[in-house]
Amino acid sequence: MIYAVIAAGGIGSRMGNMEKPKQYLKIKNKPIIVHTVEKFYVNACFKKVIILCPDQWVNYTKEVLAKYLPENDKVIVLKGGSTRNETIMNSIKYIEETDGLDDETVIVTHDAVRPFVSARIIEENIEAALKYGATDTVVPATDTIVESQNGKVISSIPDRSKLYQGQTPQAFKAKLLKDLYYSLTEEEKDILTDACKIFSMKGYDVHMIDGEVHNIKITYPYDLRVAKALLDEEIK
Ligand code: CTP
Repeated sequence: MIYAVIAAGGIGSRMGNMEKPKQYLKIKNKPIIVHTVEKFYVNACFKKVIILCPDQWVNYTKEVLAKYLPENDKVIVLKGGSTRNETIMNSIKYIEETDGLDDETVIVTHDAVRPFVSARIIEENIEAALKYGATDTVVPATDTIVESQNGKVISSIPDRSKLYQGQTPQAFKAKLLKDLYYSLTEEEKDILTDACKIFSMKGYDVHMIDGEVHNIKITYPYDLRVAKALLDEEIK
């Protein structure tokens, strides 16, 4: 079975002092999280769309989704975790307790604050996760990336043609992700903040899916302005 897992457990500190976490801010009269959930909701492959948000925002999230997606029988709202990986683990725990987990259970995890994900990207993640076990959505790096060990001088400049920027979705065989995650030490959990990194560090291939430049993550106030402009274009 295939599940969409929308990670909305963050508080958006880089957005500055907002009355609500950024996933609830409106662009074009609809909260960002609703734009995102809609992209998954319309795909019949998903048995459920599981949204995980901060504990104190669970009721609010349920109200928002009931308002904008009234026929939301396959939408589930749960509390997230203290880190993004813990948030994902909460979704797997829920699946295990309600429907059961087997080797073919796939979760397609996605940032709540990436509302421009396309149907093509979602479908390719599903197909590749079923076939290969783990996926990451990426775009070729456009800027030269420099590495610095001390934050003062450059220690290396990797070859840009081999560098990519990670987006989401990231899709996984859920049981394998759970087993790998709980095999980590607390120190490893601190370092392996990206779920794909857990797979690659443990020797598993992570299949790359072509992302799209406009599949942006809303992080800073500037990104909100870009998102509004992109949505204007979508509506035209
Ligand atoms: N996220 C999550 N659980 C956490 C932390 C983050 O589900 N414990 C989610 C966020 O809600 C967001 C996505 O992961 O949709 C990407 O994270 P990021 O953009 O860093 O969001 P925040 O943690 O909210 O932002 P900031 O780092 O500025 O506080």
